[in-house]
Amino acid sequence: MRRLLGSGARFSRGCPLLLLALLCASSGGACPCSEPALCRPIAGTREFEVFVFDVGRKTWKFYDWSQITTVAAFGKYDPELLCYAHSKGSRVVLKGDVPVKEIVDPANRTAWIARQVDLAKKQYMDGINIDIEQEINETSPEYYALTALVKEITNAFHREIPGSQVTFDVAWSPACIDKRCYNYTGIADACDFLFVMSYDEQSQVWTECIARANAPYNQTLEGYEDYINLNIDPKKLVMGVPWYGYDYKCLDLSKDHVCSLPNVPFRGAPCSDAAGHQVPYGTIMKQVNSSISGSLWDEAQKAPYYEYKDTLGHFHQVWYDDPQSISLKAVYAKKRGLRGIGMWNGNSLDYSRGSAAVEQTEAMWRALRPQ
Ligand SMILES: *[C@@H]1O[C@H](CO)[C@@H](O)[C@H](O)[C@H]1NC(C)=O
Ligand SMILES: *[C@@H]1O[C@H](CO)[C@@H](O)[C@H](O)[C@H]1NC(C)=O
Ligand SMILES: *[C@@H]1O[C@H](CO)[C@@H](O)[C@H](O)[C@H]1NC(C)=O
Ligand SMILES: *[C@@H]1O[C@H](CO)[C@@H](O)[C@H](O)[C@H]1NC(C)=O
Ligand SMILES: *[C@@H]1O[C@H](CO)[C@@H](O)[C@H](O)[C@H]1NC(C)=O
Repeated sequence: MRRLLGSGARFSRGCPLLLLALLCASSGGACPCSEPALCRPIAGTREFEVFVFDVGRKTWKFYDWSQITTVAAFGKYDPELLCYAHSKGSRVVLKGDVPVKEIVDPANRTAWIARQVDLAKKQYMDGINIDIEQEINETSPEYYALTALVKEITNAFHREIPGSQVTFDVAWSPACIDKRCYNYTGIADACDFLFVMSYDEQSQVWTECIARANAPYNQTLEGYEDYINLNIDPKKLVMGVPWYGYDYKCLDLSKDHVCSLPNVPFRGAPCSDAAGHQVPYGTIMKQVNSSISGSLWDEAQKAPYYEYKDTLGHFHQVWYDDPQSISLKAVYAKKRGLRGIGMWNGNSLDYSRGSAAVEQTEAMWRALRPQ
């Protein structure tokens, strides 16, 4: 499998063939792949989306490419990843982010969009994932500008890169989470689909300030029902699951596993998961077996957690998602007719290739498509 990747030295640098010359002329950059055909945009759609955020480095070589339909490249541009993904029929899309106040002016918006299309073309990419997580007030100039941005960028990409994909990342619920009051129906209509970030669901806690699951089962499902109740077609929703958890240092840890937290406010809420820090699944798996508690299961939230004592003697509680909690949510995604599933982020597993690590990573990929 890895032999196919080819080495940098074998990549074609010039434009020796007529076909390549045409590609180069239209985009301005030399195709970095061993075969010019691998620089063509991916146009087909598959029944079920598996949408992977990649944050860089080379662990993508160990992904389960039999499932992946789209990679959102949030790391440094990696032509090797582009060529490999295309050889598997998978799209690679840009990350799009801009301060919304800068695109309120229509001319500024048009200029920003043109730069994104140019960059995607130059890098032979297949679309863009718009990741704007900024605070916006309902019916503010930014509110209307954001919907207009998504409409205009989708039109531009679809026109300039046939078959390309434009998607938009939204919070776990449309209820102005983190003061992100967007026109969710307008944005959903305007793009190919929404990637629903069903994680960081404790970013704003108004009740008791204690450690909870990153993506509790019921809360996650409520978010989808709320989107669907706005008349957003389930086929416009891809479920995002976390491949990471939260490590909380407890002010107090009770015998019945209640970990109380200091109040760390976030966007108007008195208590937040910002009291903890994010840990990738691979790291969690290295710690769980040697923890005080071992892996425990919370039936109300349908999520695993464990407890450990740090070197200074403080108790911590770590909440995460594993194949069991993820497959429960994946079953709902399938049954509810969602467009697909994906994760933040693909690089979070232990890809070190020891037999325990291989088993772990395979189980996590498998959990996306429960039988
Ligand atoms: C338009 O963009 C320019 C430079 O990028 C910036 O200085 C200006 O403030 C923007 N205008 C608006 C109305 O956002
Ligand atoms: C939203 O409105 C509130 C109240 O008018 C204001 O204080 C806040 O700065 C606004 N936020 C943004 C991002 O415009
Ligand atoms: C949201 O966007 C849609 C489509 O552009 C529009 O029809 C609708 O009026 C907008 N909703 C609000 C509340 O502005
Ligand atoms: C942790 O324990 C589980 C269950 O006992 C086992 O399957 C797994 O391989 C262990 N993980 C490591 C890294 O030793
Ligand atoms: C989760 O939702 C189900 C179905 O609505 C309900 O029966 C159950 O009590 C809920 N569980 C929790 C912990 O809220």
